Amino acid sequence: MEYENSHTQMAPSILYWGTPVVLLSTENPDGTANLAPMSSAFWLGRRGVLGLGAGSQTARNLRRTGECVLNLPSDEQADAVDRLALTTGNPCVSAVRATRGYRYEPDKFGTARLTPLPSETVTPPRVAECPVAMEATLAAAHPVAADNDRESGKIVAFEVLVRRVWVHDEIRAADRADHVDPDAWRPLIMSFQQLYRLGPRARSSRLATIPSTSTGTASTSRSRPDLEAPGTVAPPRSGRVSRTGGTPGTGWPTRPPIRRGACQSAGDRRTSILPMLPPRIMSRNACGALGRPSANVSR
Ligand SMILES: Cc1cc2nc3c(=O)[nH]c(=O)nc-3n(C[C@H](O)[C@H](O)[C@H](O)COP(=O)(O)O)c2cc1C
Repeated sequence: MEYENSHTQMAPSILYWGTPVVLLSTENPDGTANLAPMSSAFWLGRRGVLGLGAGSQTARNLRRTGECVLNLPSDEQADAVDRLALTTGNPCVSAVRATRGYRYEPDKFGTARLTPLPSETVTPPRVAECPVAMEATLAAAHPVAADNDRESGKIVAFEVLVRRVWVHDEIRAADRADHVDPDAWRPLIMSFQQLYRLGPRARSSRLATIPSTSTGTASTSRSRPDLEAPGTVAPPRSGRVSRTGGTPGTGWPTRPPIRRGACQSAGDRRTSILPMLPPRIMSRNACGALGRPSANVSR
């Protein structure tokens, strides 16, 4: 066989194979805005899953306020992203981080030379220069590596619910108000700690023949599509967790109501994270299918 000896074993120091960069804006305890690059991010339905160091200022802010904006830079913002590398909004820089070159930076927007724009459903600002900005609220925090004594507690997978999406007109599809043109959208990619741009489309995809659908109450306005899912209530403009009916004393927002479709059983409360779980612990629903199809993801 041609590929029989094509692999050799290795132990990579990191497994950063290539994911989009997100500039996460959150609110610091003193009311100023923090802005931090991260890239361990992926999307499931209307949710984002963000892998963050538990000690970062962003993780602390997200836990405390339950709010963030996920700004997606294009390759044109690579310099701005790099200006934020090795900075933290946490005034207490640990010795380990200081050795790695990190420094405290209270003015992240100024340092990056990016422009804050007010958000509408959350307090942290959007980044004007980023072609995509998603206002989001915290839905859950999942421990990562809880089975490993040395790593336990150091990384958290934050699950955030996207409340409002803003895009630059240049990346909108010409024919559909609820579609982004993937040939126009040029995300900035972090791969093995280096910053990359996407090349051209490799080929037409048969996956794209499946129509994607939106289940949110999408408004007809092109400038302010409302992604609020039916049955959920957006927090007020400056709503913090404690002021918006979050679970008292926990600092966590109230879980949005779970809507059940015909194929979803009452006990199927883990569906939002099911695709992340190994098959052996996925439960079968009433239709005998594993989990349930995500609301608007065609894959
Ligand atoms: C391109 C890039 C990608 C990064 N990706 C992540 C990531 O996915 N998760 C993470 O915890 N930190 C990531 N970092 C490091 C954070 O930016 C760093 O921890 C920073 O101190 C966070 O800022 P904060 O302490 O003000 O929140 C990344 C940094 C850069 C420059």
